[in-house]
Amino acid sequence: MTIQLESIQNIDQLYDRAFSILEEQKNNGAKTFGLATGGTMLPLYERIRKSTIDFSNCKSVNLDEYVGLPKEHSQSYISFMKKQLFDTKPFEVSYLPNGEAEKPEEEAARYENVLKSLDLDFQLLGLGENGHIGFNEPGTSFRSETHVVTLTDSTKRANARFFNSIDEVPTQAITMGIGSIMRAHQILLIAVGEKKRAAIQALMNGDMTEDIPVTVLKEHDNVIVLTDLIV
Ligand code: GLP
Repeated sequence: MTIQLESIQNIDQLYDRAFSILEEQKNNGAKTFGLATGGTMLPLYERIRKSTIDFSNCKSVNLDEYVGLPKEHSQSYISFMKKQLFDTKPFEVSYLPNGEAEKPEEEAARYENVLKSLDLDFQLLGLGENGHIGFNEPGTSFRSETHVVTLTDSTKRANARFFNSIDEVPTQAITMGIGSIMRAHQILLIAVGEKKRAAIQALMNGDMTEDIPVTVLKEHDNVIVLTDLIV
């Protein structure tokens, strides 16, 4: 297991460190960046927006997208990415699953083919309270590829804060699979706040289990975990 754990209690310093890891990847020649959404990423994207870093010769791929939410909806992940990053820091090309596709399963297969045609240098990951990565909920096969998922109640409750009510949270999403994520050469996982403690503890001190998707990272050769928690 080669997880490099960096526990930084000062939140500004934690995100400065996250930015410097990304910058170092870019300076070392990374061309394809896997990106994530969620509240955890906001301070990092703010730093990128304010920086001079230039991604115009790089490609980006996103982890996931809600099924059935119009692209223009403020909480679709394409809207999130445009607002937080792409409108200010465009990539040469940016890929996201199309959550409005008529046949989500076919869209998932198409997206997996896109991923396979790329060499993913770097993947940014947030963490669900139940240990999910992307939208890979507990019980997902470690070998899974991009697929359609039904969101758990735990995830819907956690994400309800971004919507007017929990009933507005989409019930399904398209997500890169765990196997797809594991093909990235370098992974940076950011986990901030007490709600992430159980999952981080499972990753650092527990066994690998599909019941807690993030524990798959124990099998990856290059993982950095940035957290404000002391585990
Ligand atoms: C969502 C996303 C994940 C993200 C997680 C944590 O479910 N699909 O990619 O990591 O939420 O979100 P937050 O950073 O808001 O806690």
